Amino acid sequence: MGSRHIPVLVEEVISLLRCEPHQIYVDATLGGGGHALEILRRTAPDGILIGMDWDEDALCEAREALKPFENRTMIFRENFVRMPDILNSLKIKRVDGILLDVGLSSIQLEEKDRGFSLKSEGPLDMRMDQRAGVSAADLVNQLSEADLAETIYCYGEERWSRRIAKAIVEERKRGSIETTQALRKIVCQAIPRRFHFRRIDPATKTFQALRIRVNNELENLRQVLESGWTFLREGGRLCVISFHSLEDRIVKETFRRLSKEGEGSGLGGVLRIVTKRPVTPSEEEQMRNPRCRSAKLRCAERI
Ligand SMILES: C[S@@+](CC[C@H](N)C(=O)[O-])C[C@H]1O[C@@H](n2cnc3c(N)ncnc32)[C@H](O)[C@@H]1O
Repeated sequence: MGSRHIPVLVEEVISLLRCEPHQIYVDATLGGGGHALEILRRTAPDGILIGMDWDEDALCEAREALKPFENRTMIFRENFVRMPDILNSLKIKRVDGILLDVGLSSIQLEEKDRGFSLKSEGPLDMRMDQRAGVSAADLVNQLSEADLAETIYCYGEERWSRRIAKAIVEERKRGSIETTQALRKIVCQAIPRRFHFRRIDPATKTFQALRIRVNNELENLRQVLESGWTFLREGGRLCVISFHSLEDRIVKETFRRLSKEGEGSGLGGVLRIVTKRPVTPSEEEQMRNPRCRSAKLRCAERI
């Protein structure tokens, strides 16, 4: 197993959630349990944490990290879109706050066999939920050229998507593409050399696109944002940390539509936007944890 995940923007999350004793929180993306641990500390002695994650490796770490608080913690291996069912099954109608810290944890990124990392050789898997059906290898070897190009363009915002899709389809005529490094090589060769930049691996956007599609990440985020707030008590808060512009746009637009600002849509007025601009990690945090660089935190409060 890889190194522990370092939670991002912890103090900012805790202060926006306004954690206090007696409260009930949902951490819908437990990961290594870093944020959850802090929520449990700040809600001592009797706050409750309902945690979920769909990745068994993450849950193992989280269970270990949260052991000292196990009498106040309930953990579920679930897709967070099922949050309403979980809360209903617990007969919990209202919670004080919900945290979503979407994206990958270091636990996932650093485990070679999971196929998320551009840097190490591994099977082209990329499923966050190991029980799920479709892997990145399935997509790369089975999608039509047009579908591949659209996926890489829409979810990776990759301008060379059509060239990359063509190269993938050419290559798979010779044999199926099964590993991270095989795919990386094809992508690198498809992008003209003068567009290779020293600090960013040329295959970054393609890997992001495949991961988003394998895990249905954007649709899941949309769904949980639409349903999650309905479980907040009045004054309860929803915090979302995202790591790329596609996710942040969904959060920003959903908050706006559900807030007074979006009243014209007929849905407005259930949330108040607390963070007019996204909160980002300080320079000090970025030095300590370079992976947090692209994190953006937004918070809204139930009216
Ligand atoms: C960035 S990590 C969270 C890290 C965590 N906040 C911590 O402090 O350790 C994101 C986690 O969300 C999980 N995740 C992403 N999408 C999910 C979904 N739809 N349902 C459940 N878990 C999901 C991933 O498996 C991963 O473990």
